[in-house]
Amino acid sequence: MKNKIVLLLLILTHTTTLSSQNYEVEIETLLKKMTLEEKVGQMNQYTGFFDVTGPAPADGDNKAKYDDIRNGRVGSMLNVRGAKQIREMQKLAVENSRLGIPILFGMDVIHGHKTIFPIPLAEAASWDLEAIEKAARVAAIEATAEGIHWTFAPMVDISRDARWGRVMEGAGEDPFLGSKIAVARVKGFQGDDLTASNTLAACVKHFAAYGFAESGKDYNTADIGSSTLHNVVLPPFKAAAEAGALTFMNSFNELNGIPATGDKYLQRDILKGEWGYDGMVVSDWGSITEMIAHGYAEDGKHAAFLAADAGSDMDMESHLYKLHLKELVEAGELDIAHIDDAVRRILRVKFKLGLFEDPYKYSDELREKNLLLHPDHMNAALDVAKKSIVLLKNENNFLPLAKTGKKIALIGPLGDDKTSPLGNWRLASDDGTASSVLEGLQSYAGNSIQFSKGINFASDPIHFVHELKINTEDRTGITEAVELAKGMDVVIMALGEHGVQSGEGRSRAHLGLPGLQQELLEAVYAVNKNIVLVLMNGRPLTIDWADKNLPAIVETWHLGSKSGNAIAQVIYGDYNPSGKLPMTFPKTIGQVPIYYNTKNTGRPGPIDLVFWSHYIDETNAPLYPFGHGLSYSDFSYSELNVARLAMSNSISVKLLLTNNSKVDGNEVVQLYIRDRVASVTRPIKELKGFEKVFLKAGETKQIQFTLTESELGFYNNQGKFIFEKGDFDIMVGGSSVGGLADTIKL
Ligand code: NOJ
Repeated sequence: MKNKIVLLLLILTHTTTLSSQNYEVEIETLLKKMTLEEKVGQMNQYTGFFDVTGPAPADGDNKAKYDDIRNGRVGSMLNVRGAKQIREMQKLAVENSRLGIPILFGMDVIHGHKTIFPIPLAEAASWDLEAIEKAARVAAIEATAEGIHWTFAPMVDISRDARWGRVMEGAGEDPFLGSKIAVARVKGFQGDDLTASNTLAACVKHFAAYGFAESGKDYNTADIGSSTLHNVVLPPFKAAAEAGALTFMNSFNELNGIPATGDKYLQRDILKGEWGYDGMVVSDWGSITEMIAHGYAEDGKHAAFLAADAGSDMDMESHLYKLHLKELVEAGELDIAHIDDAVRRILRVKFKLGLFEDPYKYSDELREKNLLLHPDHMNAALDVAKKSIVLLKNENNFLPLAKTGKKIALIGPLGDDKTSPLGNWRLASDDGTASSVLEGLQSYAGNSIQFSKGINFASDPIHFVHELKINTEDRTGITEAVELAKGMDVVIMALGEHGVQSGEGRSRAHLGLPGLQQELLEAVYAVNKNIVLVLMNGRPLTIDWADKNLPAIVETWHLGSKSGNAIAQVIYGDYNPSGKLPMTFPKTIGQVPIYYNTKNTGRPGPIDLVFWSHYIDETNAPLYPFGHGLSYSDFSYSELNVARLAMSNSISVKLLLTNNSKVDGNEVVQLYIRDRVASVTRPIKELKGFEKVFLKAGETKQIQFTLTESELGFYNNQGKFIFEKGDFDIMVGGSSVGGLADTIKL
């Protein structure tokens, strides 16, 4: 019996291996059977009928879409969810179309699905790759239990501009950290067995340079040089491709005059050429049509040609491939090889996910019932939420607060908000399902907590897709809040951005606290200075006044389902904060774009004269630099030892990290380099290593890094990676400012 089982297992393993080896053959066989119309059908993606995550399609004709599915003219659907709903729609394709090719169902599963995790920018602040991978895994488990095959994540766009609302969806400003996080997210979504029924295919977006929208205005032009493109924008994409991400999404923006959707250099030369990427590229929502408005395509037909010719394999909601590709091929204008290549890539994803073996494998209603909002998922969400919090300021150890005997006022429009902490991307979650700061604080019974909103955030009812109408007039609650604050031991103020104030289309020209919140803060401060500011926001804000005046500031972003619990644990010291900023906080909007890995310029200063690179009305320094984040522990760095490894261009870096306090804690040790002289100038600091280290109270540990040519080299202006010998500064510390430094010659 035992032998039989072993034999069966062997056969099964062999069959699985064989089928994965064989899918290229099967793709060719299928391709030969397909008509041109069916091929174009695979390149067509429609939105479903539940949620719309872009401008509503003009036709809105569901019947026509169903007919297209039955006729094999739809390769993928987005925004359909539910095990049953997806099974039914899949049936339409598999049982009615001539070749029965399964549909790929996609959705924006960005930071959790039903259980909501911190927004991606917040998670990046954890610098905890394991926790980030876990968050993506849980999102995959829940989304796939609802029948979804494919997520449009991770967004790996680097951005230096807090005005851009989509910074909430990325990992911040740094390509090294961004690359590591991109890989963690891809691994989390896709797991380690592509054919498993809880594998969620990743989609790396937006290829490329979407985060460099001029003036931080969403969809705006990106115009950057080769050095920034290759050294800053592309590395996270490359890392994600190498990690096996099954798909890419191109981008709305033009880059140096070419809309990314029609950019051959990006898609054919770099991605599919140099990087040898064999996955598929989907357009962004309607981005093929938008090439007309860009002034790049004459009309729909021309746009379809340009996109397909440039390597956009699938058309998301432009409906232009469906309308024009057949005609373009038949007229000899578009090479059929491009169509075949696109279809191969699309089918490959479906084969890799095992959809040809079982197109319904994701549609399991029992899994759906059992897995959504599973307690383990909630625990994982709490864990990442705590790790994502950044302690920005903590004068005289104002925090943590004592757990008993205190009179505490909680003030602010976000104090009892159970929706904002869910952030912007949360298609599957329900309003009002996050734990609020108030609930978190109330779960500690030893103190008395009284709450006053002070002001209402919005003057109109809020809904996810609608623009928030910020309250700038109604001050009626301020007096009550001020009265409450009087005589309290501590005032906790929950202020920041509403959950829908960052995200797609939510660029801001002002980065202060929106609406009347600054006024409320100052009014409360006038009667009680013992304020802890709990910031909730999707991007860096300009909070110079708060920094100058308040004893404690805690950056809590939008932390997801367990937001309030995580915040309370940090405030009371049950979790020792360990987050570090993945994006620089400016003092004022005039400094934006502001980022740590800047170039030195020919006039770095400071000098007494006016003629150096600076502002005459503000310092160059940010409010909080990249990598900044305090702890209840007190860490010190010592004994930096930098040495060249024998016979190589590698460097060993060693240092001691000590926890001088009585509190156990985590510190993110950051390693930066500066290549002093190079054939293309290099930034004054570049992150090239980090390690999150746990130290018990009083403990010292030796930390070690190795830098090789791949960390010490860079891309030249021809996009070629090179290493140049010379002097390198090596810097280590708990932030991008300060720390220990040494120089070494290679
Ligand atoms: C537009 C966004 O730019 C993209 O990131 C998203 O995945 C699609 N809409 C689909 O919702």
